Amino acid sequence: MVSTALFLLAAAAGSARFAKAATPDEWRSRSIYQVLTDRFARGDGSPDAPCDTGARKYCGGNYRGLISQLDYIQGMGFDSVWISPITKQFEDDWNGAPYHGYWQTDLYALNEHFGTEEDLRALADELHARGMFLMVDVVINHNGWPGDAASIDYSQFNPFNSSDYYHPPCEINYDDQTSVEQCWLYTGANALPDLKTEDPHVSQVHNDWIADLVSKYSIDGLRIDTTKHVDKPAIGSFNDAAGVYAVGEVYHGDPAYTCPYQDWVDGVLNFPVYYPLIDAFKSPSGTMWSLVDNINKVFQTCNDPRLLGTFSENHDIPRFASYTQDLALAKNVLAFTILFDGIPIVYAGQEQQYSGDSDPYNREALWLSGFNTDAPLYKHIAACNRIRSHAVSNDDAYITTPTDIKYSDDHTLALVKGAVTTVLTNAGANAGETTVTVEATGYASGEQVTDVLSCESIAASDGGRLSVTLNQGLPRVFFPTDALAGSGLCEN
Ligand SMILES: *[C@@H]1O[C@H](CO)[C@@H](O)[C@H](O)[C@H]1NC(C)=O
Repeated sequence: MVSTALFLLAAAAGSARFAKAATPDEWRSRSIYQVLTDRFARGDGSPDAPCDTGARKYCGGNYRGLISQLDYIQGMGFDSVWISPITKQFEDDWNGAPYHGYWQTDLYALNEHFGTEEDLRALADELHARGMFLMVDVVINHNGWPGDAASIDYSQFNPFNSSDYYHPPCEINYDDQTSVEQCWLYTGANALPDLKTEDPHVSQVHNDWIADLVSKYSIDGLRIDTTKHVDKPAIGSFNDAAGVYAVGEVYHGDPAYTCPYQDWVDGVLNFPVYYPLIDAFKSPSGTMWSLVDNINKVFQTCNDPRLLGTFSENHDIPRFASYTQDLALAKNVLAFTILFDGIPIVYAGQEQQYSGDSDPYNREALWLSGFNTDAPLYKHIAACNRIRSHAVSNDDAYITTPTDIKYSDDHTLALVKGAVTTVLTNAGANAGETTVTVEATGYASGEQVTDVLSCESIAASDGGRLSVTLNQGLPRVFFPTDALAGSGLCEN
């Protein structure tokens, strides 16, 4: 009897894991489009509504607007959307409004600026009807208060309505991890009272909340804000309770700091690759060496590098076009973002070459672009996403195959992942023609391969050698010509 009961318990536990709404494995092949809900699309048919980023106020984007523009997102080949935190925020706006969603006051109510419960469910339903995933940003590190630390009335928060649930205010010493976890991101206005996530009660409330939220809105994945400011066991139990893939924001460029979080959360945003990626490509005077070095370190240090989120822009960092307007460099950085290992994440507006620098100027309203599907980077992203999903459907092992750096010099990088060979350069749009030789691509001698960005074909020679001509600083992405059928790329 006892052993039967134990067996049933084990089976129940096993099936609960299996029933995960969307597992890490199901996310591996996904490609994510990140929106700030307030800044992507309005639902009220006023496409010219101004949005002054510097004012740090709500601009009117919402779930209904997002639903109305899913064709635009899907047209670029994205199959997942990351939205802003959905919870209720404080309403004051004298020092900036919580249009971004990171200053919550109530876990159990929605931010009504973005829509109703019905609107959010309709978004989840419409995404799922299209085979797309919904990723929701969540904040468990802190609440938000429209004043300084001394002015906080804790009874206004739900459910953490007493100072007992929070660490006492203190400034973070970034050299001390305990301080990073227990002191406050801001003690001035607007203060971010830091929750005692190491308290079992606080952690349990968070875990019950996320399990309910995931089920109520059919959420497929989470982005966990300020992960490095939360104690690691709380992150781990929160990810388990959610039962879906979660990617943590560990805002740190050192793989030795960032990778160990993968012991606690399914994935982390790949900041260690982000920093040298931008340095390599933001100008023709950059070099590839730190990028290559950090790729190798991430591969050696992270438990599962292919569950990291690869990105080149987000709402906290300067947009790529704030460094350079060079379209060729922008195409290289995007080809890397989408075709390197991990789950690609593109921040809304990157496809329109938006150029805002730091927060809040990098949070431009997308509707002011007219949702232009002829924009060169829109088409470029579509081609990169398309070849990636084609490679996935052609080869079960593609997504778990590590990228092999087959060639690098100061200005050039050649990456081979399965049947895709990506050759990148930071020479810029004014560069003339150069040729690089990439050995051992894995292509057969004499095999025809097509650059899916230009539709030009070349043949591999002995040992899979490719002689790749680079011109005007453009990236090249090769795939076997005979295997392109069904990709929608270069098929005639
Ligand atoms: C906090 O909320 C609980 C539950 O609603 C309530 O019983 C308690 O009195 C509140 N505490 C404070 C300090 O407002």
